Amino acid sequence: MNQFLTVAQTAAHQAGALLRDNWLKPKIIEVKTDIVDLVTNVDKAADALITGMLRAQFPTHQIVAEESAVSGQEGPYRWYIDPLDGTTNFAHGFPHFAVSIALAHQSQVLVGVVYDPLRDETFCASRGDGATLNGKPVRVSQAPALDQALVLTGFPYDRRKRSEFYLRFYQAFMVRTQGVRRSGSAALDLCYVACGRADAFWEWRLHPWDTAAGSLIVEEAGGKMSNFAGASFDVLGEQTLASNGLLHQEMIEVLQQVPARP
Ligand code: IPD
Ligand code: CA
Ligand code: CA
Repeated sequence: MNQFLTVAQTAAHQAGALLRDNWLKPKIIEVKTDIVDLVTNVDKAADALITGMLRAQFPTHQIVAEESAVSGQEGPYRWYIDPLDGTTNFAHGFPHFAVSIALAHQSQVLVGVVYDPLRDETFCASRGDGATLNGKPVRVSQAPALDQALVLTGFPYDRRKRSEFYLRFYQAFMVRTQGVRRSGSAALDLCYVACGRADAFWEWRLHPWDTAAGSLIVEEAGGKMSNFAGASFDVLGEQTLASNGLLHQEMIEVLQQVPARP
């Protein structure tokens, strides 16, 4: 297990250095599924760097990375890689983005690393061994109720078409919490719940490369992951809910009260 974590950390740090060296330089920016869904030459370079390292170390593992085709053999081990989580921030020179790398065995995430290169913060977890920030153990917050909570969210790339739907959730939490933040990096949002900088996080339609590492980091920090109804969290599912555990039921109640249709 430790070998997996060591390789994931090394890859995250090398890719993170690439992001740090390039975030203020001119970039080649292209759009993907929608005009707001961006990819830069640096996303692609970081993706190639990480996938190359993992392929060399673990030739039999499957690799699912955001900016490249699935590679490796279909088998029990699968890496989920987001080479640059927070591309919109990065493309605009807004200083909040990260590298996210996780290894799953069948459907269980075994190790996760999220690296924020500008703050030089490495969030790590290995199943059963707790979660750390720069090597020191982290725990979720003690906020007991939404009235005392700072919560995080994000909006998927179909947000121009479904803005009313997503804003209903935002409004529901705006009137129940001390604040709602939209940081632009789901991987860091999960890590911020894990280390108590925020108390909960919800988002629709994330991808496994956004959530796999962060979800393990939340759980290993004593937090809770689920879908919006409280069922087991699935990195391939549509709904991501993370909390300090104490707030989980209240988060579910609010999410369930939001009307699904106009
Ligand atoms: C995005 C970020 C953002 C979230 C989006 C994600 P990307 O990832 O995590 O915070 O709201 O849903 O797609 O595209 O920057 O890797
Ligand atoms: Ca992402
Ligand atoms: Ca990305």
